Amino acid sequence: MQNFIFSNPTKIVFGEGQIKELANLVPANARVLVTYGGGSIKKNGVYNQVVQALEGKTWFEFGGIEPNPHYETLMKAVELVKKEKIDFLLPVGGGSVIDGTKLIAAAVDFDGEPWDIMAKNQAFHSALPIGCVLTLPATGTESNGNSVITRASTQEKLAFGSPLVYPRFAILDPTTTYSLPPRQIANGVVDAFVHIMEQYLTYPVDAKVQDRFAEGLLMTLIEEGPRALKEPTNYQVRANVMWAATMALNGLIGVGVPQDWATHMIGHELTAMHGLDHAQTLSVVLPAVMQHQRAKKHGKLVQYGRRVWGLMQSNEEELIDAAIAATRQFFEQMGNPTTLSGYGVGRESIPKLVDMLVKHDLLALGEHGVITPEASREILELAA
Ligand code: NZQ
Ligand code: ZN
Repeated sequence: MQNFIFSNPTKIVFGEGQIKELANLVPANARVLVTYGGGSIKKNGVYNQVVQALEGKTWFEFGGIEPNPHYETLMKAVELVKKEKIDFLLPVGGGSVIDGTKLIAAAVDFDGEPWDIMAKNQAFHSALPIGCVLTLPATGTESNGNSVITRASTQEKLAFGSPLVYPRFAILDPTTTYSLPPRQIANGVVDAFVHIMEQYLTYPVDAKVQDRFAEGLLMTLIEEGPRALKEPTNYQVRANVMWAATMALNGLIGVGVPQDWATHMIGHELTAMHGLDHAQTLSVVLPAVMQHQRAKKHGKLVQYGRRVWGLMQSNEEELIDAAIAATRQFFEQMGNPTTLSGYGVGRESIPKLVDMLVKHDLLALGEHGVITPEASREILELAA
């Protein structure tokens, strides 16, 4: 196991009816900005619960944050924050709303063009405090310091991370997820699954705690993901999916182990260029990365196949084939095709996608840094 420091400051408030806790969690004298997306929270009753819980507090609202939140939209929210002297941000929604609000928090006092926080890795030294209400278990953003922002005008999708934008609290009420359409249920389960794989499927470092946690979370998603599609109002199923997605990317399973993230980096270019949902890109890229990197990932692929899928083949190459096939079949069972052509993206896009990876300096991806642009091209060819 490698050395590490672990700290996760987000207070998790989990369970049915917990939105009312906002009354206690949001500081009494705060000037609050409630941010949200395209309106799902107004249809499923979450908005009303938030409004009730904020009674007596000073609050404003900013709606219309898109999936893959647009930089351009978020900069409008920054103006509102400055005008109304907002000092607390309360995103209510999925990963896009929470990620977008993290950028708002960082941009308010940023000296310069906030896009450079992502594009040039520029540091910021303060951020407004954030508390959140999560309605889509997927990204883990509710208790991590990461954010992914899209600039619509240039079709770029870039990430930043900072301890300053960890939410102070996250309310996770599984009943808020009952209204998710099947596509978003699938996306959430696949995204969480791939977050675990990015931290688990590398090479063994004898990190037994992290490995067993990761395997337990993967098995939970394999069991509960398809059930969430079939039984959308089963509370226990939703609760297990929601907690698994948070645990997948709150830092715990990633400490002390090598991490990959090639699938995510290649996937971001696919979303930026072709508009695929984040998890759709992962469904396409992960099986191809597993295949392309099978020699380097051999030990962990065998462990994954045996422990997570219960595979018994004595020939390890056959076992790896079966593990990759099982992963692919799981994504397809959730409803996500696992090839580029399944989303109408042809091979002719591959050189442009590779050019974008080069433009974004993503020249040495993966836990060994060996996924060069040429290797990314081969991976995309395998995914075609
Ligand atoms: O906008 P509204 O109307 O709210 O509708 C949303 C949106 O259309 C809808 N939705 C959310 N909760 C719902 C609901 N519909 C019905 N009932 C509910 N309870 O779902 C749609 C998708 O929402 P979005 O927030 O975009 O999805 P998700 O949570 O999957 O977030 C995706 C974004 O997160 C980034 C992705 O790149 C993408 O931009 N990621 C962030 C990460 C992080 N911060 O750590 C890591 C991830 O790897 C990922 O990259
Ligand atoms: Zn993801």
